[in-house]
Formats: sequence, C-alpha cells, structure tokens
Amino acid sequence: MSEDKQPVSRRQFLNYTLTGVGGFMAAGIMISPLRMAIDPVLQQGEGESDFTNVQLAEGDITNEPQRVDWEVEQVDGWYESTVSKTAWVYKDDNGDIVALSPICTHLGCVVSWEGSEDHPERFYCPCHDGLYYKDGVNVEGTPPTAPLPVYEHKIENGMLFLGKSQPRGEA
Ligand code: FES
Repeated sequence: MSEDKQPVSRRQFLNYTLTGVGGFMAAGIMISPLRMAIDPVLQQGEGESDFTNVQLAEGDITNEPQRVDWEVEQVDGWYESTVSKTAWVYKDDNGDIVALSPICTHLGCVVSWEGSEDHPERFYCPCHDGLYYKDGVNVEGTPPTAPLPVYEHKIENGMLFLGKSQPRGEA
C-alpha cells in the first residue's frame, strides 16, 4: 500500500460525480437530435441512384407508348411507405428508349397517351385539356408550360430498370 495515496474529499467526489453524470446527460440530449437531422440525409444519398426492375423486357418495348406501373419503398425522414409509380415507355424513331413521367407539369394531374379521342397521337391531361407531343414536349396554347419529366433508365439482363424522373425545364 502506498503512503502517498490521498483520500478523495467529499467535495471532490461530488464534483467528479456531477461532472460525469452531467456530461452523459448532455451527450444524450445532443446525440438524439443530431442523429435525427443527419441520418435521413445520409439515407437519402444512398438511395439516390436506385433503379427498379419494372418487369418490362426490352424486346417488348415498341414505338407505341405503353403504361408501366411499379412500386418503390420510400423513406421520408423516419416515415417508410410504399409508393406507386407510373411511366409511359416507348422507343423513338432512333430506337432509343423513352420513359416519360405521367405527371402533368401544369398542376400535377395524370396524363395518358391518346387519352382523348379528339387528340390522337398526344398525351392528354383531362384536368384542363393539357396536351403533349409523343416526345413529352408540351403543346403550345394548352395549360402546361414545360415538357413531361423523363425517367432515368437502363437495361440489365434484357429488362428495363427505371430510376428517378428528371424535369426538363420550360419549353
Ligand atoms: S393539370 Fe394538366 S392541364 Fe392542368
């Protein structure tokens, strides 16, 4: 046993204890909101380049726009949900695949290919008679002021995968 050992006074013991407990409490209070603020951002970054197999073989894509529906798991902050998505998919005159979002750029209704008998060969929005050409560009003189967004796409093992839809700006 060492003779140099100095006893801890009651005041020192209380100081150490309170400092330790206070530190733990402060760390606990700070970590939770910090994690809540940062974690969803990190998760969003991971999922940004996600593509989904929409169960359409490349060989089944024709020059006629066809509707494709699929679902994705979406994480919004701490809320997880299943979201239904739709695209109009076709091959253009060069044989390139085009995947258009059906969300009207006027006020967000859903457009459909040849949705009006009065407007063949057009995407039609029933809400305010909006029209788009086959390539998704809005028809002048109708309410939409921008083209339909396009989905990122890729082909893997002969199947079509779709990613995020990207706006194309004003036309
Ligand atoms: S929402 Fe499509 S034309 Fe208005």
